Order: sequence, then structure tokens, then C-alpha cells
Amino acid sequence: MRARTETRIAWQDLPAAVRGEITGRLCAPVVRAETQGGGFTAGLAARLLLGDGRRVFVKGIPTGHPLAGMYEQEAAVAAAVPSGFSSPALLWSGRFEDWVLLLFDDVDGRHPSLAPGSADLPGVLATVASMGEVLSPCPYGAARPVAEAMARVSNCWRTLAADPPSDLSAWCVRHLPGLVEMETRWMSVAEGDTLLHADLRPDNMVREHASGVIHVVDWAFGYRGAAWFDIAWLVPYLIMEGHSPVSAEQTLAGIPAWRSADPDAVTALAISVAGHWELARRRPSRPRLRAYQKREALAALAWTAFRTGWR
Ligand SMILES: Nc1ncnc2c1ncn2[C@@H]1O[C@H](COP(=O)(O)OP(=O)(O)OP(=O)(O)O)[C@@H](O)[C@H]1O
Ligand SMILES: [Mg+2]
Repeated sequence: MRARTETRIAWQDLPAAVRGEITGRLCAPVVRAETQGGGFTAGLAARLLLGDGRRVFVKGIPTGHPLAGMYEQEAAVAAAVPSGFSSPALLWSGRFEDWVLLLFDDVDGRHPSLAPGSADLPGVLATVASMGEVLSPCPYGAARPVAEAMARVSNCWRTLAADPPSDLSAWCVRHLPGLVEMETRWMSVAEGDTLLHADLRPDNMVREHASGVIHVVDWAFGYRGAAWFDIAWLVPYLIMEGHSPVSAEQTLAGIPAWRSADPDAVTALAISVAGHWELARRRPSRPRLRAYQKREALAALAWTAFRTGWR
């Protein structure tokens, strides 16, 4: 797995009583724990091998941590993802002492490569294509509409335009009025009744070694909306792995939800995502996350320039 994490909490760092609670629920001792490197969250994320040969995946975070609410939200969403969708089953979740804990089926695999020609792409496309059907109607009753939940993503160009950073590219500066005008125009079009992941990127997918099946993990958001939203969200990640904007979009061409998406709304979402990453990458602290967000911003900007045709 890719090692680009901020420092993770390791299994051994858990208080003994918390480890005891987990092994008690699993009815077996942990004989090996492998901390996972994907992502940027500092919480515990580890693959556990149990004494009886079973494997489970554990996530955890102290209840006082600012992200604890997201872990509880993930537990609620993951519990609602239907078994017909390829995503590890949630075995148990709850609070114990000062910890929020989640136990999942373990997937023995690695992150898929989205690079042009990658043998992983057909599996990725099969999994994401199934989302529109298998995750509709939205099985998570408390899911917030994506436009409402992501309202912050759709006013970032407005924020940037109010006080443009000195290192904003000439292209962005030139097109600020258009970017501000367009950035909200995906919102009403993204209404729908599919459960959206809203953070679909390769390190939130695991390609199972044995079957090649792509499993989607890390359901920290769980919004309700139109299926094309999650598909479109993948485009910058395809570009980050070496696709041109044209080939990224061609890669998705077989997915019905992508084909039927309103082109202007997709362009507006590209703009919105680019603005989000442009703003996020300039926030202070967490240098490794900011470097990754800069790559996300550049990919989303390349996609935006392609879709708008603005020079
Ligand atoms: N059920 C699972 N089985 C095996 N590996 C998994 C499983 N769930 C997640 N992983 C691996 O662990 C990594 C971290 O998991 P996840 O993305 O859920 O954690 P996170 O701490 O919320 O990360 P992020 O920083 O992305 O928010 C994933 O990138 C993936 O490689
Ligand atoms: Mg993740």
C-alpha cells in the first residue's frame, strides 16, 4: 500500500483495555497487526491476523479527536451499504472507554492503479458503474443531499476571488469571474437518490488479490445525490495517474450514469472541485496533505481547462 500517511496510531499504541475489548469481541487473540499507510488521517487503521486464522480490519480514534464524529458517521454509513455492493462488511462498531472503534471484514489486496492501460481499470469501472444501481434508492436514511453537504466546495472561487493569493496562476486570475459564476451550477443537477461515497479515490479502494474485485472503503461521508457525482469525482484521480483529460473521460465512457450526466453540470463540478483544492492546498500546516492537494488542484484545473475550453 502507498505510504503517504501522517503518523498513524498503531495497534500497539491502543490502551491494553481497548485491545482487550476488541479481541474479546472477536473471540480470538491478535497475532499480527499491520498498520495501513493509505490516507492522511492519524487514526488507527490496521489489518489484524487472529489466532484462529481469520483477518479483520480495525479503525479507531480517541473520542476527543476532532475526527471522531467522522468515524461514527462512517460506522453509520458502512452499516447501511448493502451486501450486494463490493465494500467490506462492518462487523461491529461502538465506543469503548475513550475510543470510537470500527471492525470490518479484511480485504487482502492493494490500491488499484488508475494509470492508462492499467489492468486494474476494468475492475474499478465495474465497481463504480454498479453504484448507481446497487446504491439506489439511497439505503442510508440519514444521508444529507450532496449539494447541501458540499456547499463549502462550491464557493471556493468566490473566496479566492475576494483576496486572490499571489501565487494563483495567470489562467485562474484571468478566468476568476467565470469560475465564480459557474462553480455552483452543478448543485441542483446533482440531486438524486443514490448513496454517494463523495471521496472516491484510489486509496479508498482496495483491489482484492484473489479475485481482482475492487472494494470501496472509507465511507466517511455518505451523501445522497445523483450517481454521476461519484463518477465525475474520479476524473482528477485518473489525470493524476497519467491520463489526459480526454482519456480520463473516455475511460468512463461505458458507465451509463456518466454518459447521461448533464455536460454543463459536469463542467461546473470540475470548476468547483478545482476551486476546493486550490483553496485547500494553501491552508497552513500538514505539508504532506497540502502537497497532495496541490496535485489534486492541478489535475482538476487541467480537467476544467479542457471542459471549458478557456485559454
Ligand atoms: N476492510 C479493509 N481491508 C483491508 N484494507 C483496508 C480496509 N479498509 C481500508 N483498508 C486500507 O487501509 C487504508 C486506510 O483506511 P481508510 O481509508 O478507511 O482510513 P482513514 O484513516 O479514514 O483514511 P483517510 O486518511 O483516507 O481518511 C486504506 O487506504 C486501505 O488501504
Ligand atoms: Mg481513506
